Amino acid sequence: MVSTLRVPTDNKALIDLYKNVRRRTMEIVAPLEIEDYVIQTAEFMSPPRWHIGHTSWFFETVLQAHKPAFRVYSEDFLYYFNSYYEGFGSRIERPKRGTKSRPTVKATVAYRNHVDEQMLSFLESTSDPTIWSLVRLGLEHEMQHQELLVYDIKHLLCDQFDVKLKSKPGSAVRVEGMAEIEGGLMWLGYRGSSGGSSPTVKEGSPEEISIYQSGDESTNSKGFAFDNEKPEHQVFIKDFAIDKAPVSNGDFLAFIQNGGYKNFRWWFSEGWETVNREHWHAPLYWEIHDGQWLIRDFDGLRPVSERLDEPVCHVSFFEASAYAKWLGKRLPTEAEWEKAACYDSNGVKHLFPWGEQIPRAEQGNLFENGHWSAAPVGSYPQGVNAYGCHQLIGDVWEWTTSDYVPYPGFKSEFDEYNDKWFVNQKVLRGGSFATPQLHIRSTYRNFFHAHERWMTSGFRCAQDI
Ligand SMILES: [Fe+2]
Repeated sequence: MVSTLRVPTDNKALIDLYKNVRRRTMEIVAPLEIEDYVIQTAEFMSPPRWHIGHTSWFFETVLQAHKPAFRVYSEDFLYYFNSYYEGFGSRIERPKRGTKSRPTVKATVAYRNHVDEQMLSFLESTSDPTIWSLVRLGLEHEMQHQELLVYDIKHLLCDQFDVKLKSKPGSAVRVEGMAEIEGGLMWLGYRGSSGGSSPTVKEGSPEEISIYQSGDESTNSKGFAFDNEKPEHQVFIKDFAIDKAPVSNGDFLAFIQNGGYKNFRWWFSEGWETVNREHWHAPLYWEIHDGQWLIRDFDGLRPVSERLDEPVCHVSFFEASAYAKWLGKRLPTEAEWEKAACYDSNGVKHLFPWGEQIPRAEQGNLFENGHWSAAPVGSYPQGVNAYGCHQLIGDVWEWTTSDYVPYPGFKSEFDEYNDKWFVNQKVLRGGSFATPQLHIRSTYRNFFHAHERWMTSGFRCAQDI
């Protein structure tokens, strides 16, 4: 089932990566009180206790399938910590994850420690590339759940969460207007071993050093991509313009103040129904007090007027589309977005706007930056692309107008992971302040339903030229 992932050069590097990723999950939840771990505040979120168990469950399925004489830790845990995998047996319904006080947090941590012990001894004893690929997938899966933990802890506690926030860099340059980008045939998707033949970085070049060769998170992430990013294939796009920056709170406030949420004209029919049914007047986490809009965040409840330059966050596809229509613009397709985020002025494609190296803190606002929210537009001039577009990587996931469907020639590398979600969802690109640096690439395809806005979602607009 699993194939085409780069094989690590030694066990130690993969073991170090395993330890680092597993440790970070526990660092994220460390400020929680015991009562916080088991509460489910909405159907879409999961209790933190469930995440720390579920990410261990994933590795236990690897052990079950591949470690000789491995004995299941607990049938009850298999039931409670399975997410949606029909192939791995029955499971608790998602909205009911917060209705049980057992397994306790203590029992869940003991389970996690047991799985780690078993995994580490297993990793020292095997050099099977299939297993190493599965473990890498498990670590990418865990990084996805680290990001989900940020969303869920925000919904659970928001400004009551006692996390130390690093101060934001502040806008270094003024970023305005749109970049004009030439169309034509382009390569869409991750190059990978099953992909096409675009003129990206050369195999074996210094830029292509595998993560495993240093065993830390400072090298590039070319060694991994999800199956849904492959195969790379050619598509044709027309010339287009795209915003040089994500739409800001200030921009979006103008839409609200212009009656944007009260005018059916800007909305898709389903979006307009949602606005009325859910009584939407602003993005999630915006509150109005005495006629003034404020945003509740990890750093407290602050007036929008203090955060005008930050990319707007927690908007649905419906809200992003309505704003774009109001301005006489539209959202970009994922091909347009990828063209902006991958191609340099010579027509050469890269993994990131700046080349092949995974993001550094100065290039984009990702989880390691420690801000737990988006930074002002213009804060990352070192992350700019060849056309003058800023913050394509990090800060907020950006909605595209593209449906989440398989690329031509798609082959599933793990049953039920990505393949069963290819219907009724939209693609988002670029990662957010909650995404680990190692986990993002410009070809990464995130996906959510058009009405969802509990994740760190924003957008930039595009236009025909
Ligand atoms: Fe999962």
